[in-house]
Amino acid sequence: MDAFQITGGRPLRGTVRINGSKNAALPLMAAALLTQEPVTLTGVPDLSDIRNMVRLLESLGLKVERDPGGGEASGDGNASGDGRCAMSTTDPTQTTAHYDIVRTMRAGICVLGPLLAARGHAKVSMPGGCAIGTRPVDLHLRGLKALGAQITLDAGYIVAEAPTDAHGNRRLRGRHVFLGGTNGSTVLGTANVMSAAVLAEGTTVIECAACEPEIEDLGRLLITMGANIEGLGSPKVTVHGVKELHGTGDTTGGHEVIPDRIEAGTYVIAAAITAGDVTLTNFPTDMLGAFLDRLEEVGINLEAEGDTTNPGSRDTVRIITPRRLNACHAVTQPHPGFPTDLQAQLMALLTLADGNSMVTEKIFPDRFLHVPELQRMGADIKRIGPTALIQGTRELVGAPVMASDLRASAGLVLAGLAAKGETTINRVYHLDRGYERMELTLQQLGAEIARVKMDGV
Ligand code: EPZ
Repeated sequence: MDAFQITGGRPLRGTVRINGSKNAALPLMAAALLTQEPVTLTGVPDLSDIRNMVRLLESLGLKVERDPGGGEASGDGNASGDGRCAMSTTDPTQTTAHYDIVRTMRAGICVLGPLLAARGHAKVSMPGGCAIGTRPVDLHLRGLKALGAQITLDAGYIVAEAPTDAHGNRRLRGRHVFLGGTNGSTVLGTANVMSAAVLAEGTTVIECAACEPEIEDLGRLLITMGANIEGLGSPKVTVHGVKELHGTGDTTGGHEVIPDRIEAGTYVIAAAITAGDVTLTNFPTDMLGAFLDRLEEVGINLEAEGDTTNPGSRDTVRIITPRRLNACHAVTQPHPGFPTDLQAQLMALLTLADGNSMVTEKIFPDRFLHVPELQRMGADIKRIGPTALIQGTRELVGAPVMASDLRASAGLVLAGLAAKGETTINRVYHLDRGYERMELTLQQLGAEIARVKMDGV
């Protein structure tokens, strides 16, 4: 298996362009199941989760053509090409999302709503748990049942049928749906119910809808395809069902996936933790309010070119880092709160701050697999339930550590960039799920990092 070897202590310098968002692209790609016409996206990142979604869509009767996106890295550390992904239906009779693909990528669940709405039937493997804790899909199922779907569980598969309408067609029915769970809203649950509701008969009102920018992006694509949706970005989304959706992309050049706010936040911390001088372009300032607020508390500021207050602006920002970092408190929450997907990275930074910090995880209360690994590097962290108390230390020391999930791995890379000596991060396939060629980008910024093969780990 691949590992990263990092010799820490080099300040990063240079410019990085933020890629398109993985978590936006996955449900956007699944939305291509909603129409018989071609759908084209641009800015789709080249990641293993995306390649798995391509396999899944192909198994569901779609032809998928992708830009070589994974070609030579260009001068700014990113792939050539515009990440084009053109999808068109060739066999609309396929309705089974098989275990062998869905088990590799939890986001496989986002084909459930589109299949059910467009093909009247879906059989989707239950995605199961993962390293960050139990990840139920009860809210997805509750929402789809509210729209009239009959749902049963059969040998590890969710089997869903849409009801028959007055004309003998299988079609969901609009309803009031409350999608709140004990930990707030659900991102992919909202994607599933919204994608299903666009073709339902009548109006659906989704309450406690996820407000994440990735859901807004999905709504924007669906509207371009002919859907009638109001309230995007708010917790109350209203969907007036239409009979059919059309394709998109032929004349418009394709729907452009929003920048990856989590990749952006990760590179902000990479700059700060190495006391470097990094400029980020295609930076989604408008999606990172809570994160940037916490960083300001730590003493890190952004110097922006132009006006970054316009919603949807894609900014060029330079990261300004003080000589010493302040401690801070952070609590992860649904958007617009501090994102759980940046919790491990912030914690890596806080291990080097002056004083005591506290990080509370409210979305996935067990998402702390990076803690024992950071402790191996000399971090002083105590975990009490969903809260980690971090006492800042003068330096981290390189050590062999194990990546356990995507964002925990990113936290370890950041710690390794700052640590004294050599850090080996095993099992970086987790990182490849969500960061496009991270080691090349970091090398171009001056980091001493290499991908190596390790036997038996
Ligand atoms: C999405 O997962 C993201 N994945 C995750 O990113 C992200 O951490 C998460 O949202 C929260 O922001 C993708 O977009 C592909 P949820 P999702 O449903 O939608 C509970 C990454 O690193 N819940 O919003 O699956 C759940 O247990 C990944 O890129 C239920 O109780 O997360 C959690 O406590 C990891 N029942 C909370 O809701 C349900 O039916 C939020 O989960 C569904 C969720």
